[in-house]
Amino acid sequence: MFDFKQAIAQDKAFADSVWEKLDKKLQVMAVRSREKLPYTTENGEHINSYLRGICSWTNGFWPGMMWLLYYGTKNETYRTTAERSEELLDEGLKEYEGLHHDVGFMWQLSAVADYKITGNKASRIRALHAANLLMARYNIRGGFIRAWNDWDEKCEQRGWTIIDCMMNLSLLYWASEEVNDPRYKYVAMAHADKAMEHHIRPDGSVRHIVSFNPENGEFIEALGGQGYDANSSWSRGQAWALYGYAISYMKTGKTAYLDTAKRVAHYFISCVSNDYMPRSDFRAPKEPVIYDSSAGAIAACGLLELARLVPANEGAFYYDAAVKLLKVIDENWCNYTLEEDSILQMCTSSWTQEGLAHRWAHKPLIFGEYYFVEAIYKLKGFDLLFE
Ligand code: GLY
Repeated sequence: MFDFKQAIAQDKAFADSVWEKLDKKLQVMAVRSREKLPYTTENGEHINSYLRGICSWTNGFWPGMMWLLYYGTKNETYRTTAERSEELLDEGLKEYEGLHHDVGFMWQLSAVADYKITGNKASRIRALHAANLLMARYNIRGGFIRAWNDWDEKCEQRGWTIIDCMMNLSLLYWASEEVNDPRYKYVAMAHADKAMEHHIRPDGSVRHIVSFNPENGEFIEALGGQGYDANSSWSRGQAWALYGYAISYMKTGKTAYLDTAKRVAHYFISCVSNDYMPRSDFRAPKEPVIYDSSAGAIAACGLLELARLVPANEGAFYYDAAVKLLKVIDENWCNYTLEEDSILQMCTSSWTQEGLAHRWAHKPLIFGEYYFVEAIYKLKGFDLLFE
């Protein structure tokens, strides 16, 4: 196996200096934004995501970031904020109606992290509830997990899957281990198999949305999602697939998942190899140039895991690409000033012809920030939460 410890020892100065900057700023933000579930900022101030709805898919990233910092520093400020966010999130479990497949992101990063770090039994129950909600979205005829609910009477999304769901499977793998019941793992694997067949193209690029017939499970079509179009390559979707299949391999040992993670990684690396600044879509027209730093941060996390999963002589390729992505982010796209609430800048929600005029282009977005912190946490050699 690749000697990860030796590799991170060589990058210790980089990891330490970034971690120190993150800690300095996040200590301040943890107090200032304690009553919020941040999504982005306006005039340098966190907007409370709670206002976009407690069931918003991004609401677990803030507590998740707080738990990473708490585990790495043992500073109680982080724990207090993480615990408060988890209480706020309870409203989502009660509300139920707005919940979707992203209960994985929401409670894996908050409640599972809390339970693993502190042993909090209430968090274990929260996470098991969320895992059961995710299981209930499984379409047994189609062999997939339904992504979203219908947004209004006109839309029909009962048979839709999105590549992002690969990250939600972590909650099912955790639940299987936690209650010693393989049902959760096999649902996760059925979904991963289906997505491998229909979302991953032979060249390693990824489709964002696929529509199936919810009655008989037959493939209908691929749809354009947050990328340029149905045939393009939304970079954050690439990153979700890369990291998601690495996790599925780690949890199941199924070689096809490792091969898929590698194939997607090769494609991702080939698309960024000029400057390691991911565009929001790797197959969009040259103009407008829209970056997405969150794709870089998520891919870096996946590449660091992949480096540990492949045979020894393959690891450096993935590890080096991860460090390059992280160095570019640190040097170009981070705001470490204490007065403003976000660190990672230049995230993009969706590719759009409007380019930078679009309200969610080149913005701080909490999930990008979370994965940047997670990647640095891994580079620091902290393992708990990702074993
Ligand atoms: N899961 C939605 C996104 O990545 O924007």
